[in-house]
Amino acid sequence: MDEAIKVNNLVMQFGRFRAVDGISFSVNNGEIFGLLGPNGAGKTTTIKMLITLLKPTSGNAHVAGFDIVLNSNEVRKNIGIVFQDPSLDDELTGRENLDFHAILYNIEKSQRIKKISQILKLIELEDKADDLVKNYSGGMKRRLEIGRGLIHEPKVLFLDEPTIGLDAQTRRHIWDYIKKLNSMHKITIILTTHYIEEADYLADRVAFVDHGKIVALDTPRALKDKLGGDIISMQVQTGLDSLEKGLKQQKWIKAASTHNGRIDITVDEGEHQIPRLILLAEKHNATIRSIELHKPSLEDVFLHYTGKNIRDEEGEGWKGRIRAMHAKRNR
Ligand SMILES: Nc1ncnc2c1ncn2[C@@H]1O[C@H](COP(=O)(O)OP(=O)(O)O)[C@@H](O)[C@H]1O
Ligand SMILES: [Mg+2]
Repeated sequence: MDEAIKVNNLVMQFGRFRAVDGISFSVNNGEIFGLLGPNGAGKTTTIKMLITLLKPTSGNAHVAGFDIVLNSNEVRKNIGIVFQDPSLDDELTGRENLDFHAILYNIEKSQRIKKISQILKLIELEDKADDLVKNYSGGMKRRLEIGRGLIHEPKVLFLDEPTIGLDAQTRRHIWDYIKKLNSMHKITIILTTHYIEEADYLADRVAFVDHGKIVALDTPRALKDKLGGDIISMQVQTGLDSLEKGLKQQKWIKAASTHNGRIDITVDEGEHQIPRLILLAEKHNATIRSIELHKPSLEDVFLHYTGKNIRDEEGEGWKGRIRAMHAKRNR
């Protein structure tokens, strides 16, 4: 089986509101797959159907080879879940939290002890294992939750907004754990996020979710390339006209424009084209003062497909929600 997850036209209707509106995608075994979209896009609802917490209104899906409705018990045995809302017991130690979870999965005692010490090592919480969770930092709690999601050795791990509310440095740290889990332990990971840089950094492939639909799906690299390649800006000291004419004859250059002695050209795989440009400049006796390469960001791509910035509607936390409420009312 090459596919860890296969989703076919999944719909979730809440009364008259369609939160998930016919979503289809597959996730390959061993992949990190990201669902990226603003607050309210339908990401968590999609995940809740896949982890068998919500029954779809229509459509179907398989997780680890099992139908989410017909074989929900098998699905649950094969998945780990780290959810948006923390669900650790603050009055227990980290080790006790893990042990409690392992008992729920009927893992017998000697196995539990072994497993828990492996996981504590993996999430680098060995030193703090016997401290109460209420004394943990935000990043430590998140690591513990991820560790807990791994106790029964799931094939597929679901992470719903894994770094929400964490500072930038802690977030990077969590990203590294996620990468490590995926590469060393071959766990398929599906994550939701509204942080563009998170999807860009972590995901092998990303689906943009907007108003309950997938509006684009590909590798971050391909999504950016499709937007029109890379932009190379050259400051030209002499020979500008001749160079410009020369550039326009090159088939690998998609577009070129000149302002104030600077030529901006659009190409695919810009990093490979810089040597060619230098040769071309020499040929046309042009002197280049500087060359700069910009990659279009995933933010540019998101804007292209949805017509908005991902943070437009929500910003961060409650301030953003209030802004979004005002925006909705004034629409
Ligand atoms: N149980 C529910 N009943 C009614 N509406 C819901 C319910 N759960 C979620 N929604 C609505 O569905 C939409 C999608 O929510 P959600 O999947 O949580 O979005 P995301 O995770 O992308 O932020 C939101 O507008 C939300 O208010
Ligand atoms: Mg959500």
